[in-house]
Amino acid sequence: RKDVGILAMDIYFPPTCVLQEALEAHDGASKGKYTIGLGQDCMAFCSEVEDVISMSMTVVTSLLKKYKVDPKLIGRLEVGSETVIDKSKSIKTWLMQIFEECGNTDIEGVDSSNACYGGTAALLNCVNWVESNSWDGRYGLVVCTDSAVYAEGPARPTGGAAAIAMLIGPNAPISFESKYKASHMAHVYDFYKPDLASEYPVVDGKLSQTCYLMALDSCYRQFCNKYEKLAGKQFSVSDADFFVFHSPYNKLVQKSFARLFYNDFMRSCSSVDNDAKEKLRPFSKLTGEESYQSRDLEKASQQVAKHLYDIKVQPSTLLPKQIGNMYTASLYAALASVVYDKHSSLDGQRIVMFSYGSGLTSTMFSLKLSNGQDPFSLSNIASVLNVTEKLESRHMTLPEKFVDTLKLMEHRYGAKNFETSKDTALLPPGTFYLTRVDSMYRRFYDRK
Ligand code: ACO
Repeated sequence: RKDVGILAMDIYFPPTCVLQEALEAHDGASKGKYTIGLGQDCMAFCSEVEDVISMSMTVVTSLLKKYKVDPKLIGRLEVGSETVIDKSKSIKTWLMQIFEECGNTDIEGVDSSNACYGGTAALLNCVNWVESNSWDGRYGLVVCTDSAVYAEGPARPTGGAAAIAMLIGPNAPISFESKYKASHMAHVYDFYKPDLASEYPVVDGKLSQTCYLMALDSCYRQFCNKYEKLAGKQFSVSDADFFVFHSPYNKLVQKSFARLFYNDFMRSCSSVDNDAKEKLRPFSKLTGEESYQSRDLEKASQQVAKHLYDIKVQPSTLLPKQIGNMYTASLYAALASVVYDKHSSLDGQRIVMFSYGSGLTSTMFSLKLSNGQDPFSLSNIASVLNVTEKLESRHMTLPEKFVDTLKLMEHRYGAKNFETSKDTALLPPGTFYLTRVDSMYRRFYDRK
């Protein structure tokens, strides 16, 4: 089987969102902290009629329809999510309603979860399935769906919500270079959800930033080693056209790319020019530990990597800056941003992806792009994604309304016996929404 990877993509995000500039003022944060400091423009959130199940049903239905894929042709369905609605029943089982209707119940796969990494686990499972002896010739389908909400405090502006669906099979326009892949997994308490009565995580923000960057370094080192063994030459940032990072907030993505550049400098890559060498030399003797703490290194490396950031990273930042952290969907929304923006020039190019999930699990992997053939072509994917129109048709909500919604959802989390407002005024036609939860905690959805 050749070129196994992503044949088709679609994204759904709630039409309700709050401007970071308004939230900043509302929270009494200093002006520019969320917009320039975190690098975020806007944050999507689920109103009381939407959740990770409704969003995933909306996006799967939409993908099957827009690419004209017969639901009978799906042989594996995997969901990545860290938003817990039920500790036993997988989100995948709710999605089965779509397939049962057409008589297809022969679909392997369940949910994967580990913070923001579950989507990558689901994707790798599907790709491995298609590449394996157990493949039955049908498509894999991956769904990443999350609603990221934080308690009041400094983490709150780093929320977001979205669902992404990706169709997996051979001869894909976005295919895996399966040999170029490296992981870093370890036990840490940087971000976790031990309180089963609350949707909010316990988070050590500073530790999570350092863990993310350490995991990135470790993956990149091993990725470069593997590449060098297989390709017989050194790997540096000049060997990929785009770098796509898991994006909790944009500033961390800026720091991440600068970190790769610093790694290239430390590995004496020929692609690092003299001016950059000059500016980074003062930091060449830092220990690993010191290098994560050095603000001067952070600034200097961001400055020397800036021109490459603009070319190789900036195109992936549109959706993450506009929607916020979508947890499992965040990395793939960043990939979707590149495909949407650059589809006509991606043929033959390479995209390196970095997936991070707190706790922690992380993988760096490589994708090769080709134009593909309709309906599974880059240009068709871009037109289905329809990012600009989807973003422009959103409804900016006042911060007060956002905070009220979160308060209501704190009461609704884990509750039974309630009806929602069924207010679908803002939802686009075809969107699924929650109508009620009965006395047995069973959830009921309708479609606009
Ligand atoms: N104008 C411009 N920039 C400002 C301003 C201002 N008025 N005020 C602050 N800043 C800058 C800061 O200098 C800092 O940037 P820097 O790191 O380049 O110096 C940035 O804004 C953030 O300010 P901090 O004081 O560092 O923010 P704080 O500690 O209050 O919160 C944090 C940030 C830790 C990221 C918090 O939002 C959080 O905990 N988020 C959730 C955890 C997270 O997302 N971790 C990432 C990896 S794990 C995951 O994916 C969940």
